[in-house]
Amino acid sequence: MTAAPEPAGAPAPVLVADDLIAGYLPGVDILNGCSMSVAEGELIGIIGPNGAGKSTFLKALFGLVPVRSGSVTLGGEDITNRRADQLVRMGVGFVPQTNNVFPSLTIMENLEMGAFQHHKSYHEQFDKIVELFPVLGERRHQRTGSLSGGERQMVAMARALMMDPKVLLLDEPSAGLSPARQDETFVRTREINKTGVTVIMVEQNARRCLQICDRGYVLDQGTSAYTATGKELLKDPKVIELYLGTLGA
Ligand SMILES: Nc1ncnc2c1ncn2[C@@H]1O[C@H](COP(=O)(O)OP(=O)(O)OP(=O)(O)O)[C@@H](O)[C@H]1O
Ligand SMILES: [Mg+2]
Repeated sequence: MTAAPEPAGAPAPVLVADDLIAGYLPGVDILNGCSMSVAEGELIGIIGPNGAGKSTFLKALFGLVPVRSGSVTLGGEDITNRRADQLVRMGVGFVPQTNNVFPSLTIMENLEMGAFQHHKSYHEQFDKIVELFPVLGERRHQRTGSLSGGERQMVAMARALMMDPKVLLLDEPSAGLSPARQDETFVRTREINKTGVTVIMVEQNARRCLQICDRGYVLDQGTSAYTATGKELLKDPKVIELYLGTLGA
Protein backbone atom coordinates (compact mmCIF):
# COMPACT_ATOMS: atom_id res chain seq x y z
CA MET A 1 0.00 0.00 0.00
CA THR A 2 1.43 3.39 -0.93
CA ALA A 3 0.55 6.79 0.50
CA ALA A 4 -2.45 8.36 -1.22
CA PRO A 5 -1.73 11.70 -2.93
CA GLU A 6 -2.62 14.70 -0.77
CA PRO A 7 -5.75 16.59 -1.84
CA ALA A 8 -5.04 20.04 -3.30
CA GLY A 9 -4.99 22.77 -0.67
CA ALA A 10 -4.35 20.35 2.22
CA PRO A 11 -1.62 21.33 4.74
CA ALA A 12 1.82 20.13 3.70
CA PRO A 13 2.74 16.66 4.97
CA VAL A 14 5.45 16.89 7.60
CA LEU A 15 6.21 13.21 8.07
CA VAL A 16 5.58 10.57 5.42
CA ALA A 17 6.17 6.83 5.65
CA ASP A 18 5.89 5.10 2.32
CA ASP A 19 5.49 1.35 2.01
CA LEU A 20 7.78 0.39 4.90
CA ILE A 21 9.11 -3.13 5.19
CA ALA A 22 10.96 -3.59 8.47
CA GLY A 23 11.77 -6.20 11.07
CA TYR A 24 14.11 -7.24 13.86
CA LEU A 25 15.43 -10.61 12.69
CA PRO A 26 16.86 -11.43 9.26
CA GLY A 27 14.15 -12.78 6.98
CA VAL A 28 11.29 -11.91 9.35
CA ASP A 29 9.34 -8.84 8.31
CA ILE A 30 7.08 -7.27 10.95
CA LEU A 31 6.01 -4.31 8.84
CA ASN A 32 4.75 -5.46 5.45
CA GLY A 33 4.13 -2.25 3.56
CA CYS A 34 3.14 0.36 6.08
CA SER A 35 2.29 3.85 4.84
CA MET A 36 1.25 6.98 6.64
CA SER A 37 1.25 10.69 5.99
CA VAL A 38 0.91 13.33 8.71
CA ALA A 39 0.22 16.96 7.98
CA GLU A 40 1.70 19.77 10.03
CA GLY A 41 -0.26 20.29 13.24
CA GLU A 42 -2.25 17.06 12.89
CA LEU A 43 -2.94 14.63 15.72
CA ILE A 44 -2.88 11.10 14.32
CA GLY A 45 -4.03 8.00 16.20
CA ILE A 46 -2.83 4.51 15.33
CA ILE A 47 -4.93 1.62 16.57
CA GLY A 48 -4.73 -2.12 15.96
CA PRO A 49 -4.58 -5.45 17.77
CA ASN A 50 -1.72 -6.54 20.02
CA GLY A 51 1.26 -7.62 17.97
CA ALA A 52 0.07 -5.73 14.87
CA GLY A 53 3.37 -3.88 14.69
CA LYS A 54 2.33 -0.51 16.11
CA SER A 55 5.41 -0.11 18.33
CA THR A 56 7.60 -1.49 15.55
CA PHE A 57 6.20 1.16 13.22
CA LEU A 58 7.08 4.01 15.60
CA LYS A 59 10.53 2.49 16.18
CA ALA A 60 11.06 2.25 12.41
CA LEU A 61 10.19 5.95 12.06
CA PHE A 62 12.66 6.75 14.84
CA GLY A 63 15.57 4.73 13.44
CA LEU A 64 15.39 1.99 16.06
CA VAL A 65 14.34 -0.85 13.75
CA PRO A 66 16.06 -1.25 10.36
CA VAL A 67 13.85 -0.30 7.41
CA ARG A 68 14.51 -2.83 4.62
CA SER A 69 12.51 -1.13 1.94
CA GLY A 70 10.33 1.96 1.58
CA SER A 71 11.10 5.42 2.85
CA VAL A 72 10.50 7.92 5.63
CA THR A 73 10.66 11.64 4.93
CA LEU A 74 10.54 14.60 7.29
CA GLY A 75 9.62 17.90 5.68
CA GLY A 76 10.53 16.34 2.33
CA GLU A 77 13.99 15.19 3.47
CA ASP A 78 14.76 11.47 3.39
CA ILE A 79 15.35 10.28 6.97
CA THR A 80 15.04 6.53 6.39
CA ASN A 81 17.26 4.66 8.88
CA ARG A 82 18.61 7.94 10.28
CA ARG A 83 19.98 7.57 13.81
CA ALA A 84 17.65 8.45 16.69
CA ASP A 85 19.96 11.14 18.11
CA GLN A 86 20.07 12.85 14.70
CA LEU A 87 16.30 12.67 14.45
CA VAL A 88 15.97 14.29 17.88
CA ARG A 89 18.10 17.17 16.64
CA MET A 90 15.90 17.41 13.53
CA GLY A 91 12.81 17.85 15.70
CA VAL A 92 11.41 14.36 16.25
CA GLY A 93 10.54 13.31 19.81
CA PHE A 94 9.76 9.74 20.86
CA VAL A 95 8.17 8.43 24.06
CA PRO A 96 8.56 4.62 24.09
CA GLN A 97 5.90 2.27 25.46
CA THR A 98 8.05 1.07 28.38
CA ASN A 99 11.20 2.05 30.29
CA ASN A 100 10.73 5.65 29.29
CA VAL A 101 12.16 7.38 32.39
CA PHE A 102 15.36 7.07 34.42
CA PRO A 103 13.87 5.87 37.75
CA SER A 104 16.92 6.65 39.90
CA LEU A 105 17.01 10.27 38.72
CA THR A 106 14.75 13.08 39.92
CA ILE A 107 12.12 14.68 37.71
CA MET A 108 14.41 17.63 37.09
CA GLU A 109 17.36 15.41 36.19
CA ASN A 110 15.17 13.44 33.79
CA LEU A 111 14.21 16.65 32.05
CA GLU A 112 17.84 17.79 31.94
CA MET A 113 18.67 14.53 30.16
CA GLY A 114 15.93 15.36 27.66
CA ALA A 115 17.49 18.72 26.91
CA PHE A 116 21.09 17.57 26.60
CA GLN A 117 21.44 18.64 22.99
CA HIS A 118 19.06 21.55 23.00
CA HIS A 119 20.17 24.92 21.71
CA LYS A 120 17.69 26.95 23.76
CA SER A 121 18.17 27.53 27.45
CA TYR A 122 17.13 24.68 29.67
CA HIS A 123 15.26 26.94 32.11
CA GLU A 124 13.13 28.58 29.43
CA GLN A 125 11.97 25.18 28.17
CA PHE A 126 11.51 23.83 31.70
CA ASP A 127 9.20 26.74 32.60
CA LYS A 128 7.12 26.15 29.47
CA ILE A 129 6.70 22.48 30.31
CA VAL A 130 5.84 23.09 33.95
CA GLU A 131 2.91 25.17 32.70
CA LEU A 132 1.61 22.07 30.94
CA PHE A 133 2.45 19.74 33.85
CA PRO A 134 2.36 21.81 37.06
CA VAL A 135 2.81 18.74 39.25
CA LEU A 136 6.25 18.12 37.74
CA GLY A 137 7.39 21.55 38.83
CA GLU A 138 6.13 21.03 42.38
CA ARG A 139 7.85 17.65 42.65
CA ARG A 140 10.98 18.46 40.67
CA HIS A 141 13.34 16.94 43.27
CA GLN A 142 11.45 13.64 43.65
CA ARG A 143 12.98 10.50 42.13
CA THR A 144 10.85 9.31 39.21
CA GLY A 145 11.06 5.72 40.47
CA SER A 146 8.80 6.74 43.38
CA LEU A 147 6.15 8.39 41.20
CA SER A 148 2.81 6.85 40.22
CA GLY A 149 2.44 5.37 36.74
CA GLY A 150 0.55 8.42 35.51
CA GLU A 151 3.09 10.86 36.89
CA ARG A 152 5.92 8.86 35.36
CA GLN A 153 4.18 8.99 31.99
CA MET A 154 4.03 12.79 32.35
CA VAL A 155 7.78 12.88 33.01
CA ALA A 156 8.40 10.78 29.89
CA MET A 157 6.30 13.12 27.77
CA ALA A 158 7.83 16.21 29.35
CA ARG A 159 11.32 14.85 28.71
CA ALA A 160 10.58 14.44 25.00
CA LEU A 161 9.15 17.98 24.93
CA MET A 162 12.35 19.45 26.38
CA MET A 163 13.84 19.31 22.88
CA ASP A 164 10.92 21.35 21.54
CA PRO A 165 10.02 18.75 18.90
CA LYS A 166 8.06 19.44 15.72
CA VAL A 167 6.74 15.89 15.67
CA LEU A 168 6.08 13.79 18.76
CA LEU A 169 5.70 10.00 18.61
CA LEU A 170 3.81 8.54 21.59
CA ASP A 171 3.57 4.79 22.17
CA GLU A 172 0.51 3.92 24.29
CA PRO A 173 0.78 6.80 26.75
CA SER A 174 -2.39 5.69 28.59
CA ALA A 175 -1.42 2.02 29.05
CA GLY A 176 -1.69 0.73 32.61
CA LEU A 177 -3.25 3.90 34.01
CA SER A 178 -6.49 4.32 35.95
CA PRO A 179 -9.44 5.70 33.90
CA ALA A 180 -9.00 9.18 35.41
CA ARG A 181 -5.27 9.22 34.64
CA GLN A 182 -5.94 7.86 31.15
CA ASP A 183 -8.28 10.74 30.54
CA GLU A 184 -5.69 13.21 31.72
CA THR A 185 -3.16 11.73 29.30
CA PHE A 186 -5.51 12.28 26.36
CA VAL A 187 -6.30 15.83 27.46
CA ARG A 188 -2.58 16.63 27.82
CA THR A 189 -1.80 15.11 24.43
CA ARG A 190 -4.44 17.29 22.82
CA GLU A 191 -3.05 20.34 24.63
CA ILE A 192 0.48 19.59 23.45
CA ASN A 193 -0.87 19.22 19.91
CA LYS A 194 -2.66 22.58 20.21
CA THR A 195 0.66 24.27 20.98
CA GLY A 196 1.62 23.37 17.40
CA VAL A 197 3.32 20.00 17.86
CA THR A 198 2.35 17.36 15.30
CA VAL A 199 1.52 14.16 17.20
CA ILE A 200 1.46 10.50 16.18
CA MET A 201 -0.07 8.48 18.98
CA VAL A 202 -0.35 4.69 19.21
CA GLU A 203 -3.15 3.69 21.57
CA GLN A 204 -4.83 0.63 23.03
CA ASN A 205 -7.73 2.78 24.23
CA ALA A 206 -9.06 3.00 20.68
CA ARG A 207 -12.30 4.77 21.53
CA ARG A 208 -10.72 7.61 23.48
CA CYS A 209 -7.91 7.92 20.93
CA LEU A 210 -10.33 8.23 18.01
CA GLN A 211 -12.34 10.81 19.93
CA ILE A 212 -9.40 13.19 20.20
CA CYS A 213 -7.44 12.53 17.00
CA ASP A 214 -7.91 14.36 13.72
CA ARG A 215 -7.32 11.17 11.77
CA GLY A 216 -6.79 7.54 12.65
CA TYR A 217 -4.98 4.66 11.02
CA VAL A 218 -5.84 1.03 11.57
CA LEU A 219 -2.76 -1.16 11.55
CA ASP A 220 -3.14 -4.89 11.15
CA GLN A 221 -0.46 -7.52 10.53
CA GLY A 222 2.15 -4.91 9.79
CA THR A 223 0.06 -3.16 7.13
CA SER A 224 -1.79 0.13 7.48
CA ALA A 225 -5.24 -1.12 6.55
CA TYR A 226 -7.14 2.15 6.25
CA THR A 227 -7.36 5.72 7.42
CA ALA A 228 -10.23 8.11 8.05
CA THR A 229 -11.09 10.87 10.48
CA GLY A 230 -11.43 9.81 14.11
CA LYS A 231 -15.18 10.46 13.94
CA GLU A 232 -15.61 8.29 10.85
CA LEU A 233 -13.64 5.41 12.35
CA LEU A 234 -15.74 5.58 15.53
CA LYS A 235 -18.81 4.84 13.37
CA ASP A 236 -17.14 2.25 11.13
CA PRO A 237 -18.82 -1.15 11.72
CA LYS A 238 -15.54 -3.05 11.26
CA VAL A 239 -13.69 -0.82 13.73
CA ILE A 240 -16.56 -1.13 16.22
CA GLU A 241 -16.59 -4.90 15.92
CA LEU A 242 -12.82 -5.37 16.16
CA TYR A 243 -11.58 -2.57 18.41
CA LEU A 244 -14.42 -0.86 20.23
CA GLY A 245 -16.71 -3.72 21.22
CA THR A 246 -20.14 -2.83 22.52
CA LEU A 247 -18.75 0.39 24.01
CA GLY A 248 -18.37 1.75 20.51
CA ALA A 249 -22.02 1.28 19.59
N1 LIG B 1 12.90 -6.79 19.80
C1 LIG B 1 12.18 -7.65 19.09
N2 LIG B 1 12.76 -8.73 18.48
C2 LIG B 1 12.05 -9.60 17.73
N3 LIG B 1 10.70 -9.51 17.53
C3 LIG B 1 10.08 -8.48 18.10
C4 LIG B 1 10.76 -7.50 18.90
N4 LIG B 1 9.86 -6.58 19.34
C5 LIG B 1 8.67 -6.97 18.83
N5 LIG B 1 8.78 -8.10 18.08
C6 LIG B 1 7.70 -8.79 17.37
O1 LIG B 1 7.13 -7.89 16.43
C7 LIG B 1 5.71 -8.09 16.34
C8 LIG B 1 5.02 -6.75 16.52
O2 LIG B 1 5.31 -6.25 17.83
P1 LIG B 1 4.95 -4.77 18.27
O3 LIG B 1 5.53 -4.59 19.61
O4 LIG B 1 5.31 -3.83 17.19
O5 LIG B 1 3.35 -4.87 18.35
P2 LIG B 1 2.29 -3.83 18.92
O6 LIG B 1 1.26 -3.64 17.85
O7 LIG B 1 2.98 -2.64 19.43
O8 LIG B 1 1.62 -4.67 20.11
P3 LIG B 1 1.06 -4.18 21.55
O9 LIG B 1 -0.33 -3.65 21.29
O10 LIG B 1 1.01 -5.45 22.34
O11 LIG B 1 2.01 -3.16 22.12
C9 LIG B 1 5.35 -9.11 17.42
O12 LIG B 1 5.17 -10.35 16.78
C10 LIG B 1 6.57 -9.13 18.31
O13 LIG B 1 6.76 -10.40 18.88
MG1 LIG C 1 3.22 -1.82 21.28
